[in-house]
Amino acid sequence: MKDLKQLNADNWGRTSEQYAERAHKGSGMMMPLIRNYTQGASQVVKSSSPKVIDVASGAGEPGISLAKHFTSGNILITDIAPGMVEQAKKMCANADVKNVSFAVADAEDLSAYPDGSFDLLTCNCGLMFMPHYDRALSEFRRVLKPGGAAMFSVWGPPGKTNLIGVFHDIRDRIAPGESYFADPGCLGSKDKLHGAVEKAGFSAFDIREVNVPIKFTKEATPMVLENAVVSELLNRLKAAGKPDIYQQAQDAYMASVEEHGYLHGDEMIFPENIALLVTASI
Ligand SMILES: C[S@@+](CC[C@H](N)C(=O)[O-])C[C@H]1O[C@@H](n2cnc3c(N)ncnc32)[C@H](O)[C@@H]1O
Repeated sequence: MKDLKQLNADNWGRTSEQYAERAHKGSGMMMPLIRNYTQGASQVVKSSSPKVIDVASGAGEPGISLAKHFTSGNILITDIAPGMVEQAKKMCANADVKNVSFAVADAEDLSAYPDGSFDLLTCNCGLMFMPHYDRALSEFRRVLKPGGAAMFSVWGPPGKTNLIGVFHDIRDRIAPGESYFADPGCLGSKDKLHGAVEKAGFSAFDIREVNVPIKFTKEATPMVLENAVVSELLNRLKAAGKPDIYQQAQDAYMASVEEHGYLHGDEMIFPENIALLVTASI
């Protein structure tokens, strides 16, 4: 298998356009979670013109929301996937957001930015994809100014995140024993997260559960399965000689949502998807 970071860059980049469409546009699925960053930042950021870095921003969030919130601030939007950074640029241009800049950056190595550069660092649902998340956390701390704060989230345990539970179920039905290149739920324990944040040297932090209910139509099924994590496995299995794997995955998805009671007429409703949102200061 390729290096995990390269897989992240390739697969999130390849799916960046549909990610932007599904997750960040309008009432996209990530936006209820993103709103917590602007609310939380108002409380932890002291400057009215803060310097902010958003890492693993995907198609630009929460960076874009923070740029709209702190209109005199400067927000640097970064991601490891160049395709995602391109989507973020388009989203900013469409929303006429100007107090932003962009960079392709690996969150585990922010050496392009000196110690104490930023008032706020954000990272929504990115940390659990990083093979050395402990390095990323210590970079988060390093680039913050004294008195600065970090806000980041990860998905909770699969038992409390309906959609990730279904993704696990699909994999177990179509390819028992295979792994996704990254498990979105791998940091979803408060104890694990607590230990990692403390080890990175943050002096005070709070971990809060935020529920993100998710709804898809039946017609969206092929698109739902095109997310970076599931589609990488499907592409791998196809290349290994399983041409009908996409149909199998769709059938497994339908069977899983029916079995778990998530299917309501033409809609799949996943009522509980718990994100763990950390606010930490130095
Ligand atoms: C689920 S998306 C989250 C995007 C966005 N923050 C949001 O909330 O919608 C995960 C993002 O993490 C990025 N990513 C994964 N590993 C990374 C790394 N080592 N450094 C920076 N970004 C990374 C991926 O490219 C992807 O855009």
